[in-house]
Amino acid sequence: MTADLTINNLHVTVEGQEILKGLNLEMNKGEVHAIMGPNGSGKSTLANTLMGHPAYHVTEGEVWFKGQNILTLAPDARSRLGLFLAFQYPSTIPGVSVSNFLRTALNARYQQPGPADSGNGQGEGKGLSMRDFRDMLKSRMAMLKMDPGFARRYLNDGFSGGEKKRVEILQMAMLQPEIAILDETDSGLDIDALRIVSEGVNQLMSPNLGVLVITHYQRILDYIKPNRVHILLNGRIVLSSGPELALELEERGYDWVKEQFGQSALGPGTAA
Ligand SMILES: Nc1ncnc2c1ncn2[C@@H]1O[C@H](COP(=O)(O)OP(=O)(O)OP(=O)(O)O)[C@@H](O)[C@H]1O
Ligand SMILES: [Mg+2]
Repeated sequence: MTADLTINNLHVTVEGQEILKGLNLEMNKGEVHAIMGPNGSGKSTLANTLMGHPAYHVTEGEVWFKGQNILTLAPDARSRLGLFLAFQYPSTIPGVSVSNFLRTALNARYQQPGPADSGNGQGEGKGLSMRDFRDMLKSRMAMLKMDPGFARRYLNDGFSGGEKKRVEILQMAMLQPEIAILDETDSGLDIDALRIVSEGVNQLMSPNLGVLVITHYQRILDYIKPNRVHILLNGRIVLSSGPELALELEERGYDWVKEQFGQSALGPGTAA
């Protein structure tokens, strides 16, 4: 029995430097997994690689999802297959409203079935009518306690840090992925926003959704409760355990992990 998402011996280079050095990770839909790790350990590299960002070169390894090695697929095909990434640093698209962006993204996700699509019951092949789209957008924005006027604003143009993060989760709520990676979605959110966004993610949780939460802090995990917590250090998952591991890290930091598992206590890119 293999996991819904299986990452096997993943090696990734960025700008000629190896960042991921044989990363293994398995997760199932219906589960929440957290990845924690020092700055520069490769967390965003993993997220970007899973989505097929062209700057990240896979030199070895496989990522299995829905019966195929997704590393051979283009980013849009991965999205259609049900993968989603909420970016650590969402980009701005001036001239494209939030509403238009989401409608375009939804149509792209559902109009053409992905290769070897096993069907996820979300109505691929059919576009969403304008009316259905608006109803869905309204209800998801209400769930995330967003002002409806947001939908008309240009994507992330002049948005505050927290507003950008909330729009990322709105995207997730609209696209209904099967594996969602949240890369430091908690950073920049105020205390109320963190709770609202987390509750939104929890409402989206189902046996058909797995969430990978990348975070530095325990706090988001108080709301979005992880089944497993993994430590990424120097391009590898060096330790996986239950939710108590996040509490231990909060208390003790990473020195003990580096002592136990690091070849050196220095991250990649740091002068030795
Ligand atoms: N596009 C890129 N160009 C150059 N170097 C990169 C690029 N992406 C990542 N790196 C390098 O890869 C290493 C890992 O970066 P990554 O963003 O994956 O770390 P992280 O674990 O997400 O850190 P943080 O906790 O600070 O977000 C860093 O040394 C970084 O400078
Ligand atoms: Mg990062």
